[in-house]
Amino acid sequence: MMLNQVEELASKASDGLGKVTDVNDLEAWRIRYLGRKGSLIQVLRSLATLPLEERRAVGARANEFKKSLEAAYTEKKSNLERSSALSLQRESLDITLPGRQVSLGRLHPTTQIVEEICAIFSSMGFQVVEGPEVERDYYNFEALNMPVDHPARDMFATLWVDLETEAGDKPVLLRTHTSPVQIRVMEKSRPPIRIIAPGRVYRYEATDAPHEWMFYQVEGLAVDKNITLADLKGTLFEFARRLFGEERKCRFRCDYFPFVEPGVEVAIDCMVCRGAGCRLCGNSGWIEILGAGMVHPEVLRRVDIDPEVYSGFAFGMGVERIPILRYGIEDIRLFYSNDLRFLRQF
Ligand code: PHE
Repeated sequence: MMLNQVEELASKASDGLGKVTDVNDLEAWRIRYLGRKGSLIQVLRSLATLPLEERRAVGARANEFKKSLEAAYTEKKSNLERSSALSLQRESLDITLPGRQVSLGRLHPTTQIVEEICAIFSSMGFQVVEGPEVERDYYNFEALNMPVDHPARDMFATLWVDLETEAGDKPVLLRTHTSPVQIRVMEKSRPPIRIIAPGRVYRYEATDAPHEWMFYQVEGLAVDKNITLADLKGTLFEFARRLFGEERKCRFRCDYFPFVEPGVEVAIDCMVCRGAGCRLCGNSGWIEILGAGMVHPEVLRRVDIDPEVYSGFAFGMGVERIPILRYGIEDIRLFYSNDLRFLRQF
């Protein structure tokens, strides 16, 4: 009778050991079966009450089981320890491995110079505004005193947009300059006006070292009572000296744009040869940086500003020209071909 109980206990114990998967379970198992208050000890203790014959048989069997369970326990324990050491090794981090370099972005050279230009004009009281790049013929040409078939349209090789939009049959294009922003501003606000408008412009042109089909301009416009060409000169001269250095000289010469009268072309003396003539300035000693002039009365009239009362000046400059001059960049196409070896230098 007692012998059966011992057999049963032993088989339960070894089943239980089979299910043990970690050291905590193993310790619980040990306490339960082999501990000082464990089941096996209790069996052994109860032997005392048995008749001698049976006591011997059961005692011997029980001791056998005790030894084999202890052996199984020791083996299980060392197995568990080995495998947990292995898995620790497998999961361990090599903290000596250097981290991955995160490369920092930076502002595009054009963005940097646009910000610089905006900061200079802001400090002179000009407000920074923007206009659309996809523009109506009306704003890009017509309102700027260039009606259909005006020969001056040929100055601007135009990318036309074939769009079925709310513009209906009104022709749409990619703006060829930032001057249409002048019209948009004057339509919505009354003098005094002082704005600059940076942004992209597009020209239908084959690209080469000095030409891109997309580039940036900054437009400027001031309209008020008693604005004269002297105000234009003063403003642009101050701008040129802040951007290119105190000792810079400015040159104004006549030029033609249909939306200004008179129109001028503004140049600064070459910063390399200081007027003596070199490769950068094409031996002339001067570098053209922008077109400008007094807003044409016809343009003012169209936006309902009375040219008898008000006058204004306007200018438009190419942005890339400035870093090109400053750093001696030989090819404008480098700006927008996304070669990081170029862009990272700024
Ligand atoms: N919009 C002209 C251009 O792109 C520049 C300009 C602007 C000239 C304003 C005069 C006044 O060539």
